[in-house]
Amino acid sequence: MNVLITGASSGIGAGLARGFARDGHTVGICARREDLLREVLDDCVASAPDSKMWVVDLADLDGVAAFGLQADDELGGIDLLINNAGIPKRRHALNLAPDVVDQVMAVNYASPIRLTLALLPRMIERGRGRILSISSVAARFGPPREAAYSASKAALSAFMESLAVDLDGTPIKIHLVNPGIIDTPLFQLPDNETSLADLEPLPVEVMYEAIKQQLEDDEFEIYVPDWFKDIAANRYGNLGAFIEGSKDYTRERVKQMEAQ
Ligand SMILES: NC(=O)c1ccc[n+]([C@@H]2O[C@H](COP(=O)([O-])OP(=O)(O)OC[C@H]3O[C@@H](n4cnc5c(N)ncnc54)[C@H](OP(=O)(O)O)[C@@H]3O)[C@@H](O)[C@H]2O)c1
Repeated sequence: MNVLITGASSGIGAGLARGFARDGHTVGICARREDLLREVLDDCVASAPDSKMWVVDLADLDGVAAFGLQADDELGGIDLLINNAGIPKRRHALNLAPDVVDQVMAVNYASPIRLTLALLPRMIERGRGRILSISSVAARFGPPREAAYSASKAALSAFMESLAVDLDGTPIKIHLVNPGIIDTPLFQLPDNETSLADLEPLPVEVMYEAIKQQLEDDEFEIYVPDWFKDIAANRYGNLGAFIEGSKDYTRERVKQMEAQ
């Protein structure tokens, strides 16, 4: 299988690239930081020698479709697109400048949608293809300090839900992944406020195992870890109470962190 993974210079994307390559799949990886991408590619070619990399800024929306078609040509047809690249820009909503909201929407929503729409016609013509998007539990919960981020992930998830229905009758499969807290550099990026999450992060390797199982089972949506699914299901039964609970949690977390 040929797998294109966006945002594979670090964290989840790098872990997925190494996992798919280890299992013998040819991977195409892209991101902005060439040195880090090169390290990931060196690991991948050891078991998947035709793997390739492209240095690309996916925030440059005008170039995204052309990049997708180039990667499709150079990989010899993408069987699985993994929309993974993303940025948090974690901050209190009152500290969010409008251009930062636009930037988050561009990278987390507009860019993967453009890539998806560019590749879909070719996948349909070939009679096979899967599109898997790394969304977030933030798409379902609206966590504190993540208004722009959670909105961008909710938009991505909503698009993919409708797309899955629209693609009925085609051979294309759509998948969503909602990670909780995974141990990646996302939580140490500059230009972000400290995360208020107090969960023990899971190692990045769990993502490949979970996604491999998801693809085998042909599941539309998974949560990693799985128990987030129950929280999502219960939340919609009483959204007002959930938001009041989130306020209590946030006040407590801020107090704890100020005391540290
Ligand atoms: N870690 C978690 O707990 C968690 C939870 C839920 C969802 N997620 C999602 O998982 C995905 C991967 O995040 P991560 O945790 O692995 O964080 P990460 O280590 O910061 O990885 C983000 C990746 O996206 C790439 N990227 C960012 N902006 C880009 C741009 N403009 N053009 C091209 N590539 C770009 C980065 O590469 P360059 O900087 O080299 O371009 C990097 O490879 C994101 O969509 C994130 O929202 C993560």
